[in-house]
Amino acid sequence: MEKIKVIFSRDQIQQKVKELGKRIADHYGDEEIILICNLKGAFIFLADLCRHITSPISVDFIATTSYKGTESTGDVRIIKDLKMDVRGKHILLVEDIVDTGYTVDYILKYLSLHKPKSLHVCTLLDKSCKREIELPIEYHGFEVGDHFVIGYGLDYNERYRELDYIGEFVQP
Ligand code: IMP
Repeated sequence: MEKIKVIFSRDQIQQKVKELGKRIADHYGDEEIILICNLKGAFIFLADLCRHITSPISVDFIATTSYKGTESTGDVRIIKDLKMDVRGKHILLVEDIVDTGYTVDYILKYLSLHKPKSLHVCTLLDKSCKREIELPIEYHGFEVGDHFVIGYGLDYNERYRELDYIGEFVQP
């Protein structure tokens, strides 16, 4: 059994998600936002975040792939497309973690082709020390260093998404 060290506890995450929801609602007010969740990693964050946003919201999902094991390949592909028509709407892309930035950069370019009214990014975790592309990120929860993290939606080979905290493996 692997040992996992807690980096952000359940309470720290819940407090941060609440703060982010409030900031988002303060910004958009009564304007409708379409939250676009990048699957799979952001599904738990989206579920908690959307319940702290008091503005009118709709939710849609997109799925991308780029990671193999613990490494970002930079080769981003969309494997599930949007269902909603987002033209002329406020879009907020909800991400679990921004690492090199290739995934978000690719999705932003793709979404901007749909001519939204506005397009912003909300990520729970920001691994900015690994960034290879400069990106506009309006909302971010926590900074993380150059560690591979798991839990609260984030996986290692599809495991550990169900943890209610964010942690990293401890080397034996
Ligand atoms: P990027 O394209 O390098 O920014 O990688 C972004 C995607 O890689 C995220 O949406 C995650 O799915 C995955 N990812 C990046 N870092 C981690 C990590 O530390 N743990 C789990 N998944 C990660």
